[in-house]
Amino acid sequence: MESSNLFAPLELGRHTLSNRITMAAMTRQRAGRSGVPTELHAQYHAQRASLGLIVTEGVFPSLDSRAFPGQAGITNDAQQAGWQHVAEAVHASDGVMFMQVMHGGRVCHPNLTEGAEPVAPSAICSSAQIHTFDGKQDAVTPRELEVAEMERIVGDFRAAARRAVDAGVDGIEIHSANGYLLHEFLAPSSNQRTDDFGGSVDNRLRFPLAVARAVVEEIGADRVGVRISPEHNVQGVIEDDRADVVEVYGRFVDELAELGVAYVSILHSDPTDELVADLARRARRNGRTRVLMNNGFAQLTELPDAEAMQRLDYVDAVSVGREIIGNPDIVRRWKEGLALNTPEQATFYANGAHGYTDYPFAD
Ligand SMILES: Cc1cc2nc3c(=O)[nH]c(=O)nc-3n(C[C@H](O)[C@H](O)[C@H](O)COP(=O)(O)O)c2cc1C
Repeated sequence: MESSNLFAPLELGRHTLSNRITMAAMTRQRAGRSGVPTELHAQYHAQRASLGLIVTEGVFPSLDSRAFPGQAGITNDAQQAGWQHVAEAVHASDGVMFMQVMHGGRVCHPNLTEGAEPVAPSAICSSAQIHTFDGKQDAVTPRELEVAEMERIVGDFRAAARRAVDAGVDGIEIHSANGYLLHEFLAPSSNQRTDDFGGSVDNRLRFPLAVARAVVEEIGADRVGVRISPEHNVQGVIEDDRADVVEVYGRFVDELAELGVAYVSILHSDPTDELVADLARRARRNGRTRVLMNNGFAQLTELPDAEAMQRLDYVDAVSVGREIIGNPDIVRRWKEGLALNTPEQATFYANGAHGYTDYPFAD
C-alpha cells in the first residue's frame, strides 16, 4: 500500500507544522481549584513539542462553564500568565500549540462553578454522572439559556481567545463536540428551543456560528480551528437522524470554510464513512481550511490507524489522543518503529506528575 505522508510538513493557517501527527485535546485535571496551569503543564506540553500541533485540554472561558475538577481556565490574569509560561516552554522546543476552549453546558455542576447552575439550550438533563471536586455526583437539570446570556458567552469565548493569543498561544480550537454546550445547540435531542436558536438547521447553528465568528474576528481565521463530532451520541446528545446530521453539519462546515478557519477537526468512529468524507471535502473546498481526523474512543489510535486516516484524500493531519499521553516522543517512535509505552488509564485524570510528565522517552 502507498505510504502516507504522516511525517511531511503541513501549512495550517499562519503556521507550518513539522508533521501531520497532532495531539488531540485531552482534559488531564491537574490545575487544581484555581485553574492556573503550572510548571507541570509547561513540562507536559513541551515534552510533546515534536508533534506537528499540540491541542491543549479543553479550557474554560468563564468559571461558570467549568466542567471538570482541576480543569485549566483562561479567565483571569493568573491563568493567562500560567498559559504564557506553557506557550514559552513549547516554543522553546519549536512546538506549535492551540488552546481548546470549551463551555461545559449541561455537563457543568454547581460543585465546579461555585454554585452557578448549569445552563444549556434547553432544560434537559444529560442523565450523566459528573466528576466534581467531591467525587462523582448526579447531573443537575440545566436552566434554559436566555438570549442575553448567550451574548455574554460569545463574549467570553472572544475574551478567552484574546487572552490566549496575548499569552503567546498559537491559536484556538473551539470545542463544538462531545456533548458540551456548542454541540448541545446542534442536536435536536438537546436543543428544543422555539426561538431563533432552536428548531431549523439555521437556528440550531446560530449560536455555535456566533461563537466562531466572534473568535475569528478577534484573532483571525488563520488561528482558529473548530472540533465537531457528528453522530458521536455522547452525554445524551443523540444524533440518530442521518439526513438531519448531513444538513446541520454540512451547513456548519460550509460556513466555517467560508470564514476560512485554519482547520476543522472531525471525531467520528468511521473516518471512511461517506458523511465524514462529504464534510471533510466541503471544509477543504476553499483550499485553505485543513481537516484533522480522529476515529473516536473505540480503540487507541495506533500507527496503522493513523496511516490509514492520513491516506484518505480528504484528511490533512491525524488527531491522536491516548497514545500521546503515554508517548511524548511518539513522532520519533512511529517514524523509527520503536516500541511504545502503554498509557495508564488510572492516571488520565489525576493529580501530579505521575502519569503526566513521567512517561520515559525512547533511548
Ligand atoms: C483523558 C481524556 C481526556 C479527553 N479530553 C478531551 C477534551 O478536553 N476535549 C476533547 O475534544 N476531547 C477530549 N478527549 C477525546 C480525545 O481528544 C480523543 O478524541 C479520544 O481520546 C480518542 O482518540 P484516541 O483513540 O487516539 O485516544 C479526551 C480523551 C481522553 C482519553
